[in-house]
Amino acid sequence: MKIFVDSANLGEIEESLKRGFVAGITTNPSIMSKEDRTDFHQHIGKIIKMLNRYKLEIPLSVEVFTSDPREMVRQAREFVAELGAYRGLTVKVPIGWEELGVISQLKAEGIRVNCTCCMSFNQAVMAANAGADFVSIFYGRIRDIGYDARSVVESVHRVFKEWSSPSQIIVGSIRHIYDINDAMMAGADIITIPPKFFPQMVSHPKTDEAVNQFLTDFKKWTSEK
Ligand code: E4P
Repeated sequence: MKIFVDSANLGEIEESLKRGFVAGITTNPSIMSKEDRTDFHQHIGKIIKMLNRYKLEIPLSVEVFTSDPREMVRQAREFVAELGAYRGLTVKVPIGWEELGVISQLKAEGIRVNCTCCMSFNQAVMAANAGADFVSIFYGRIRDIGYDARSVVESVHRVFKEWSSPSQIIVGSIRHIYDINDAMMAGADIITIPPKFFPQMVSHPKTDEAVNQFLTDFKKWTSEK
């Protein structure tokens, strides 16, 4: 089970990278839009520079920003031309009928693909068959409209395993800590998590209580005459 950072914010990414648990980074156009307006490639280039500084070549997903399939292929090629020296570069393509052709075209060109916005079992299976290296299932958005995200991930995990599919399941669209735990148990290979959840994931009131007690007891013992 791997943890990716779902952010394009340099500060947030660095806070996570320096703690050593990060196995990848995902961005999307909305995540990008939260950053100061700048040249798109330049901003991704800064993330890559940081990854190089940490000597990491982990997957970095960058999403196309068009609904025209031909333009998707053009943008993907441009990402590779501008940023492809970074070997973890992965192009995110939303699931869809025309988009399957984009995925298979990019794969034929040796470009790593993350098929995103999957909400159902069928979508994930089609994406994997078209050649997506990663299939991103949107936990929170599935639940938003009352569907069972856990059963989607469980079924996809089961068939990928049965078929020995090389595609990996990324669960994204995390809204609560419980989504993370639930998706892990459901069989996600990767969870991509907004950084605000990371400190919460390692904190527990009983841990604070134990650590404080150890320090207090030790201090008392060393200061007793
Ligand atoms: C990750 O790959 C997704 O783009 C992201 O988690 C989507 O999250 P949202 O549903 O909060 O937009």
